[in-house]
Amino acid sequence: MRRVVCPGSFDPITNGHLDIIGRAARLYDEVTVAVLINVEKSSLFTVDERIEILQTVTKEYPNVKVQKFHGLLVDFCRQNDIPAIVKGIRVVSDFDYELQMAQLNYRLSGVETLFMPTNPEYSFLSSSRVKEIARYGGDVSGLVPDLVHTLLIERLRG
Ligand code: PNS
Repeated sequence: MRRVVCPGSFDPITNGHLDIIGRAARLYDEVTVAVLINVEKSSLFTVDERIEILQTVTKEYPNVKVQKFHGLLVDFCRQNDIPAIVKGIRVVSDFDYELQMAQLNYRLSGVETLFMPTNPEYSFLSSSRVKEIARYGGDVSGLVPDLVHTLLIERLRG
């Protein structure tokens, strides 16, 4: 069984994330989407809400499962017998940051990191930009799954 993890905050999931998860699901037997529980960072959606959203929008992929984690990602990988992390790279500056993280994670545990170029259609996309646009009434349809679009409007505009 070839397993990988797609980790992130997913607050909320964007079409860029979903593209990476879907492509990973075609390459691997099992993809675990791991949602970071970060008590230091305030979030728009709770971890459980994010998990529910992720489960709904990845329903078409039977080999994708969603879990939460806290602490080190490599510990989560070890506990779940996952040998590799998949990360999307949007722009060169992502690579700079992700390379350090990948090397540290490998040094800590031997867990590999595989980089997947983001679909250029989404290379400008991030959860924080999506929240900012939605907060000020901009149109984020096409940038996030329809469910997220609806929930963003509900949450941000009352
Ligand atoms: O979507 P994000 O917020 O960019 O995801 C970042 C994430 C969750 C992948 C990263 O912060 C992470 O792996 N956090 C867990 C703590 C950890 O393992 N840090 C790396 C030490 S080298």
